[in-house]
Amino acid sequence: MIDKKYDLIIIGAGPGGYLAAERAGARGKKVLIIEKEKTLGGVCLNKGCIPTKTLLNSAKIFYKAQHSEMYGVTVSDAKYDFEKAIAWKSKVVNLMTKGVAYKMKSNNVTTLYGEAKFVDKNRVSVNSELYSGDNIIIATGSSPIAIPIEGVEQPHVITSDEVFNIAEPPQNLVIIGGGVIGLEFASYFSMIGVNVAVLEMLPEVLPNVDSEIAKLLRTSLSDCNILTNVKAQRIEKDKVVYIKDGNEANCDADLVLLATGRAPNVERLGLENINIEFSKNGINVNDKMETNIPNVFAVGDVTGKSLLAHSAYRMGEVAVNTILGASDKMRYNAVPWVVYTNPELSGIGLTEVQAKKEGYTIKVSTMQLRANGRFYAEHGNEKGIVKAIVDADTDLLLGLFILGGVSSEVIHSAAIIIEAELRVKDIKEIIFPHPTVSEAIKDVLWEI
Ligand code: NAI
Repeated sequence: MIDKKYDLIIIGAGPGGYLAAERAGARGKKVLIIEKEKTLGGVCLNKGCIPTKTLLNSAKIFYKAQHSEMYGVTVSDAKYDFEKAIAWKSKVVNLMTKGVAYKMKSNNVTTLYGEAKFVDKNRVSVNSELYSGDNIIIATGSSPIAIPIEGVEQPHVITSDEVFNIAEPPQNLVIIGGGVIGLEFASYFSMIGVNVAVLEMLPEVLPNVDSEIAKLLRTSLSDCNILTNVKAQRIEKDKVVYIKDGNEANCDADLVLLATGRAPNVERLGLENINIEFSKNGINVNDKMETNIPNVFAVGDVTGKSLLAHSAYRMGEVAVNTILGASDKMRYNAVPWVVYTNPELSGIGLTEVQAKKEGYTIKVSTMQLRANGRFYAEHGNEKGIVKAIVDADTDLLLGLFILGGVSSEVIHSAAIIIEAELRVKDIKEIIFPHPTVSEAIKDVLWEI
């Protein structure tokens, strides 16, 4: 029998929810976290960030084994064992989700499995029982959007929610949508030998990214057939029919992955019972993660503000600090993002176009990563570029984008630069370790 009265109830145990629970528990609050799935960790740990990165790593090892002659390594019989790769992925996911359960216990957080629904602004019902909380944080995440196209209901049409359940890799995969999810899976499946086509309706992939860099990534993924400006018409048993330049054409497909965006999970929560302001784009929050209902907060994807696990972490911290009476607020100008393709594309802040639109006078510097010793030694002639956008009036960094290698491990330096409001002249005095790819950040800014 678990208690029914809490200081804080958290609905959803993804990154936003579990981190908030951990922080509040560590500060002595009596916390209940409610999860409708069988394991903790949300989409990120179970069907998103962690499993995709685990599989991408297996695929990269396989790919490198086949493309390493120039580095003096010849592997004659490299094989990709899909079942073993999936088993390794499951082991990683299992350990990570257990780690979250351990963190809940060690911070005295009570975990309850079931679907929560608001009864009023302080009470939720779960498995026909009522639980009350002085404060409630909604952290219910997001789900893939299904597009209304003929044939989507067929069993070979899936979303990222089902992709880890496939028994074997397809021969011909068509991915509808050239956003982050579409490109990461395109990179993974093409590296393990699947014929991949991506159908993107806009003129370039990754619509929110600097188009010069998005184009470079698209052309780097040369093993995939990435079509832009195309409209998927219908999905048949073994092909996807699309329109390009007014003409009908098709791609073979024994599996179709829909990757056309995600929408906040605002349904079946009883939100209408508490008059909270929300729409299909998410629950309205201010920069303290407060909703219009004084004791109810929302964090992560469900706010529709930034659909990234690390944004959710920070939003969870901000919500808990607000509840604890500490001054804190969410800032979105220094949120790094990564597209974990091979090569990786990482970025932060404003693109050239966005900065100009916001009225900045900007200075732009671009550098080929090939000029960086460590990058060239490890990646040869692979594409790699770093681009910086600086405010000409204040000398502050507005945006930075790195395509190449494992740029995900480097981009946080730009987050620190932006957060700490360092000026270009300050960065010129920082010592970066040599030889590392991180030096490219200093070098590109040196040219400003
Ligand atoms: P997205 O919004 O990034 O991309 C969807 C793409 O599909 C867009 O390029 C759009 O133009 C295209 N599209 C939409 N309807 C279409 C249609 N009918 N035909 C052809 N193309 C169509 O959404 P995505 O990739 O599903 O990702 C969802 C969210 O999850 C994003 O906000 C992303 O940031 C987040 N995410 C982040 C990851 C990361 O940080 N590495 C990994 C996975 C997801």
